[in-house]
Amino acid sequence: MHKILFVCLGNICRSPMAESIFRHKVQQAGLGDHFQIGSAGTGDWHVGQLPDSRTIKVLKANGITDVSRARQVVANDFVDFDYVIAMDLANVRDLQRWDKSVPDAVSLMSSWNPTSAVLEIPDPYYGNDQDFHHVFALLDKACEGLLNKLENS
Ligand code: 4NP
Repeated sequence: MHKILFVCLGNICRSPMAESIFRHKVQQAGLGDHFQIGSAGTGDWHVGQLPDSRTIKVLKANGITDVSRARQVVANDFVDFDYVIAMDLANVRDLQRWDKSVPDAVSLMSSWNPTSAVLEIPDPYYGNDQDFHHVFALLDKACEGLLNKLENS
């Protein structure tokens, strides 16, 4: 069983999008029983909310309708999940609020795409639909790389 938590700032744009994309890929591969997948935000402003309407829209445009509600990171996430995957470097720094050492389990989302030209997944919150499509494309590639790595281990 691989336990994966995607983390961003608000948990309404990037990390829930990553969670839904990755869950979709895992289910399509028939590997649902082998993965536990979640997402969380370092901030608490949107706890309990559905993803941003633009996140839902871009997921739907790509045939993905399963979404989850926002929650904040908790200290136990570092125990409960094998992989804590952050969208940007500010997320990594903010995760140190819960664990000063930032354990080895924490990685950057883009690092899972071996051909990625970017280090961070940009925050689309103050952007437009095109920014959300760009983020979707980056996350889709990174999710593909993550699944390729983990399905053989
Ligand atoms: P996310 O985007 O971290 O990708 O979910 C954001 C969502 C909300 C806010 C910032 C970023 N906010 O400031 O409320």
